[in-house]
Parts: sequence; structure tokens; C-alpha cells
Amino acid sequence: MTILITGAAGFIGTNLCKTLLEQGKKVVGVDNFLTGSKKNIAFLHSFPSFSFIEMDITDPLSAKKLLSHPIKEIYDLACPTGVDNLIQMPLEMLFASTIGVKNMLDLAEKKQARFLFASSSEVYGDPKITPQTEEYEGNVNPLNPRAAYEEGKRCAESIVAAYCRTRRVDAKIARIFNTYGPFFSEKDTRVIPQFLSQMKNGREPEIFGDGEQKRSFLYIDDLIQGFFLIMNKGEIGQAYNIGSEEAISINDLARMLIQAASKHCSIKHLAQDSLDLHNIRLPSIKKMEKLGWKKTVSLKEGLNKTMRFINEQLN
Ligand SMILES: NC(=O)c1ccc[n+]([C@@H]2O[C@H](COP(=O)([O-])OP(=O)(O)OC[C@H]3O[C@@H](n4cnc5c(N)ncnc54)[C@H](O)[C@@H]3O)[C@@H](O)[C@H]2O)c1
Repeated sequence: MTILITGAAGFIGTNLCKTLLEQGKKVVGVDNFLTGSKKNIAFLHSFPSFSFIEMDITDPLSAKKLLSHPIKEIYDLACPTGVDNLIQMPLEMLFASTIGVKNMLDLAEKKQARFLFASSSEVYGDPKITPQTEEYEGNVNPLNPRAAYEEGKRCAESIVAAYCRTRRVDAKIARIFNTYGPFFSEKDTRVIPQFLSQMKNGREPEIFGDGEQKRSFLYIDDLIQGFFLIMNKGEIGQAYNIGSEEAISINDLARMLIQAASKHCSIKHLAQDSLDLHNIRLPSIKKMEKLGWKKTVSLKEGLNKTMRFINEQLN
């Protein structure tokens, strides 16, 4: 059985490929390197059961080339992410989430492959309730620049649900909340990779606003175990929140990272970013708990593991 991973050269994709290959699975990774990096996946080529195809999932002709592979599972992760990319690549976000998702669902239908779509907590937009349950419909303005990502993911979920209802595709949705760990791309502008890269370059972590805004962070290994549970035990056409219920202020996160990196530096505060003004997003994980999932890695442990990985890479 072959497993297809789109967005394989990104942060989650690289970790997912590695886990599956270590389990002895056959993996085909695809990526167009829009935000992912060749460097990230270089080590995966040492696994004989790994193959890689450079392609854009929005291109239907390239997608057809995948038909020759005996694909039985698809993890569709390909999409640019991050606040900076809302300005730089809104159309790429929307097209990966619509045309790209359609192409990959067509492939799933033809190959009778099971399908997991990587959605996001951003489908809740600027939420009016905390924590967010999967039933919460969200609060999104389609004309806001952030909507390229938020509405893209919402539309993708609708496409997935429609393929389940009308084409009998076995597809499920993971609504991912902030996740961190090894193999962040150097181009990644999300908060943890940003702090790490600033510290690596001898600068202090830079925080937009007063730093008292709260977020939650899940270690990558827990996310991947959640993916497997959703793929294997989740209900067709259903969405599952997956994230940490433990909220932390960005100031505290920066302090924990400084400690994990054994640095002695202060924190720099910058003006608030107008694209990052959302209320706290915190998942209700009751649905995932019913599948048997629970978080196993604390934030402190996860940050230490991430730092160890970075230090090993530097050496
Ligand atoms: N990391 C998180 O905290 C988080 C949170 C919520 C949702 N997600 C979702 O999970 C998925 C993976 O996220 P990530 O953190 O690994 O992001 P990432 O940016 O590191 O990886 C995304 C990968 O997709 C590739 N890609 C983008 N458009 C493509 C296209 N059209 N064709 C082929 N490849 C394409 C990029 O080059 C990149 O390698 C994304 O769909 C993202 O929206 C991630």
C-alpha cells in the first residue's frame, strides 16, 4: 500500500513522511516548494520506500500522473501558511484549498483511497466562543485579507463533505490548531520558528503587541498520532479539532524558549500586527478524546525536544 502526502516538504509533511517511513510504509511525497524546502526532505531519500514528485496539486495534468501509483491513503497538507503569506500568496492559498483539494479528491475517488484533509482552527475566524467545538460555525469576513486562508479552508471542508456525500469518498477533516516541532522550514514566519530564527541570529525574540495575547501549541508527534486516529477511526465527512487545550501568553512562550535555548536575552515588543488581532483560539477536544486521543508531550518537553533537534542540526 502506498501513502500519498501532499505538502511533503513542509513542516508537518516532513514529520509525517518520516513517521510513516519509520513504520515501514511506502510513501510518495509531492510538493512544489512554494513554502517548503528541498533541504527539509533531503534525509528522506535515504529510505528506499520513499519517492518524491515535484508538482503543484492545482495542476490537473500533474495530478493525473499520480494515477499510476498504488495509492490507498492520501494526506492532503499542501497549502501555503503563515501571516506574511496572507499578503504574499493569497491566491495560492485559495487555489490549493479549492482546485488542489478537488484534484486530490478526484484521485482518491479513482484509487478508492482514504483521504485526510489538513484544515485549520482558522475556519473559526475571530471566534465569539472559547473553547471552539466542531459545531461552532465561526466568524469570518470573506473580504478581510485573512480570508484567503480562512475561507480557503472553509471551502475545502465543504468540497470534502460534498465528495463524501455525492461520490462516496472516504474522507475526514483534521482542524489543526498551532503545532510546532522539528523540521520547520527556514522560510516559516509563524511564532515559534520566528523566535528560534531570531535567537539563532543573535537577536531577541520580537513580539507584536504587548505579548499578553494567548495561544495554544501542540507538539508534532501528538498531531501525527491524531492524524492516524482520524484516518482509521474517524467518521466519514466529519471534522475533528486537534490541538492543545493549554493556553499560554506569547510573552511566556518567548521566556520558555529562551530558557530551552539556554540564552540570556530580553524580549522586544513591536507594534501590533493588524492581521493578527484575533481572539484566542482554543480547541474543545472532546471529539478527539472519543477516538482515544490525548496530548502526551507538555510544552516544556516539546520545546526542549525542538531545541535539541536544532542544536543537532547546527552541529
Ligand atoms: N503547522 C500548523 O500549526 C498548522 C495549523 C493549522 C493548519 N495547518 C495546515 O497543515 C498543512 C501543513 O502545514 P505546515 O505547517 O506543514 O505548512 P508548511 O508551509 O510548512 O507546508 C506546506 C507545504 O505545502 C507545499 N505547497 C503549498 N502549495 C502547494 C501546491 N499547490 N502544490 C504542492 N505543494 C504545495 C509548500 O511548499 C509546503 O512544503 C497546511 O495545509 C496548513 O494549512 C498547519
